[in-house]
Amino acid sequence: MTQELEQLRERALADLEQAETPEALEAWRVAYLGRSGEVTLSLRGIGQLPPEERPAAGQMANQVRLQLTEAYETRQATLETAALDESLRAEALDVRLPGRPPSLGYLHVITQVLREIYTIFGQMGFHVYRSPEVEDDVTNFQMLNIPPHHPARDMWSTFHTTDAGVLLRTHTSPGQIHAMRAYHPEPFRVILPGKCYRYEQVTTRSEHMFYQVEGLAIGQNITMADLKGVLESFVKEMFGPERKLRFRASYFPFTEPSAEVDVDCILCEGEGCQLCKHSGWLEVLGCGMVHPTVLRNGGYDPEAYTGLAFGMGPERLAMLKYGIPDIRLFYSNDLRFLRQFA
Ligand code: PHE
Repeated sequence: MTQELEQLRERALADLEQAETPEALEAWRVAYLGRSGEVTLSLRGIGQLPPEERPAAGQMANQVRLQLTEAYETRQATLETAALDESLRAEALDVRLPGRPPSLGYLHVITQVLREIYTIFGQMGFHVYRSPEVEDDVTNFQMLNIPPHHPARDMWSTFHTTDAGVLLRTHTSPGQIHAMRAYHPEPFRVILPGKCYRYEQVTTRSEHMFYQVEGLAIGQNITMADLKGVLESFVKEMFGPERKLRFRASYFPFTEPSAEVDVDCILCEGEGCQLCKHSGWLEVLGCGMVHPTVLRNGGYDPEAYTGLAFGMGPERLAMLKYGIPDIRLFYSNDLRFLRQFA
């Protein structure tokens, strides 16, 4: 009997070495230590032995059971450790990898130019005043001295809505009326930035939608010299002291006298090119002294008050500043273009 037990132990231990998986280990346990496993059966068989053999056989059988149980537990621990190591290796998270940074947005080039304009005029005491993009015919035209059938309306091809008299503003000048009525009767200085809309052919110089920044200063001794001074300071701040500008006599129904300001074309340096219509100059703004009728419409007495006004196109300014040949690039959402201003 002791010999059989010895063989059983050797066989069981050898088998255990072969058990590589939890399933094989469990099968081994059932086969040897389970309720009808070999070791259990041997222990039960001891009762059938002749009495003189029982003590030695019993002792040995118990020893074998203990040894095998210990060996089983050791094997089980070894397999668990190996399984854990394997899963740690397989699911390893390499924390040394650089993270993926979320990509940051940036300001559109026109927003950047607008902010620069706000800063420059801010230094000259101008506040930003917001006025609506959807206007009525009265404010966009009539209050600005442009009656219904006036030929000057041809200067602003208009998007009308299906509501009679409601339109998308063609310029920021109706904001002059809103600002005057808000500040009246005090003197004030504001700029009015925002989008404008024109029903026109799209070209390298003009778009359906574009920005304007209107400027308006109302006070008691404002003259044409102030207008020139403000605009000259602005252009030099914006483009550098070497930039040339010229005032060209012009006509707007809401200013008298009126002028347009041109800056020498940055693309051709004044030689003449497609951008500047071969004139060497780019028109960047319209301006003038506020017309008495407009002052009156805003609530000011034209005998006591005068005002200067101007309206500039930030896209044109950006084209000049960065040498951009086509206005359509700004709003066609081509990231290759826009990223250059990140
Ligand atoms: N509103 C004019 C335009 O859109 C520009 C302008 C503004 C002219 C203020 C004079 C004074 O063309």
